[in-house]
Amino acid sequence: MLNLKNTKIVIDGQKQLSGRVRTAGAKNAALPELAAVVLTGGEFHFRDVPEVEDIKVMFHALENLGAEGEFRSNTVKIKIPTIKSPLVPREIVETSRASVLLLGPLVARNGYAKVSTPGGCAIGDRKINYHLEGLRRMGTDIIEEKEHIIAKASKPLRGIDYSFPAKTVTGTENLLMAAVLAEGTTVLRNCSLEPEVGDLIELLLAMGADIKGKNSETLVITGKSSLNGAAHQVIPDRIEMGTYVIAGCFAGNEILVENTVPEYVGCLLDILEKSGIQVNTAADTISVNCNGKVNPVDIETMPYPGYPTDLQAQLTTLLTQAEGVSHIKENIFNNRFQHTGELNKMGANIELNGDVSIIKGKTPLTGALIRATDLRASAALVLGGLIAKGTTVIENVFQLFRGYENMPQKLNSLGADIKVIEE
Ligand code: EPU
Repeated sequence: MLNLKNTKIVIDGQKQLSGRVRTAGAKNAALPELAAVVLTGGEFHFRDVPEVEDIKVMFHALENLGAEGEFRSNTVKIKIPTIKSPLVPREIVETSRASVLLLGPLVARNGYAKVSTPGGCAIGDRKINYHLEGLRRMGTDIIEEKEHIIAKASKPLRGIDYSFPAKTVTGTENLLMAAVLAEGTTVLRNCSLEPEVGDLIELLLAMGADIKGKNSETLVITGKSSLNGAAHQVIPDRIEMGTYVIAGCFAGNEILVENTVPEYVGCLLDILEKSGIQVNTAADTISVNCNGKVNPVDIETMPYPGYPTDLQAQLTTLLTQAEGVSHIKENIFNNRFQHTGELNKMGANIELNGDVSIIKGKTPLTGALIRATDLRASAALVLGGLIAKGTTVIENVFQLFRGYENMPQKLNSLGADIKVIEE
């Protein structure tokens, strides 16, 4: 097994890419769905679970709570007959912030949870105050310690009427999972509409939960005293599919992305068409055709169905090849432009003005020694390395493996030259 902490990747750029690549299951759907296992002692069988580091961390955290199961060949079989320990310790979850998703289900089933605080994050402030406020209103005492959040409920949680002050994906998921075991009815308003929330609802329904309003901003949940296990297929990862679609937009490449849901990346496809790239979609495939000319575009990141923050960095790399000036406004996270400095080391011309990046194209890129700062930034740097002249070395590439399954192998199968090197 690779020691990912000391791994770098070396890309010999300017190879033309062609062929088919399959999108894996969605990391950000599988994470809350694995957390939902905590809600019952029943058995689960998940298919299309991406084999990425963040999921391995969640699986390990569940084992620490008392789960019995296995994770292999993109399949997870798992059950937690009894909660043996209500602790989600820092040493297990320090590399992933998704551990907070265990708070709602653990306190709902067990009446007590002690979960490591998510800590600082490379992409900016990632508050969880709405998660905690909702749980408090459901009857939970929340104690925020330096390293842990403790949630205690001496009675079953109770239904609430709560409107999220702003959209939060994991906040919606956390309160949803608490509400399915709460007494009475919960109304959650201003919920996130991301497909991963909808997929979690599908799983919870299969577990016997009563939830009305899937794919709408208001969810009405009537709590049940117990739930059962379920079998579930995880939806395709829209950020991974979008990343490969963008890879297909560079001149000379011809990539067909399989196992997609074009609607999930509708906003990206619209923007690509605006920039002059021809997009072809079929039931579950997407391909793009670029004649070499990319027009500049102005976009801003928004909650779904708007343009996803998780595809902002990758689009930036494409826009370094646009003929003219593009602007990207980042509305979701306040420190998500760290890839721009690294792309500039490769020859890009990107300026920052507060929450807006100004990308002045077209700039040829040249191989350089660069550093991955976060998961999506690392994908943007890989895209940069693929089109750069010469050799690009990306350090701290552990970030990439947190959320992209076998990206070097997948790109090599399309004709790239990427080596993974452990030091
Ligand atoms: N926010 C609050 N209070 C809260 C919750 C959120 O102020 O209680 C703010 C955050 O600080 C942020 C904004 O609301 O500025 C949106 O945060 P959100 O809670 O929606 O993000 P998240 O649930 O922590 C998930 C994904 C992220 C993705 C965001 C936005 C998972 C496990 N993570 O994070 O994915 O960027 O939604 O779509 O689902 C990634 O995969 O690379 C990744 C970072």
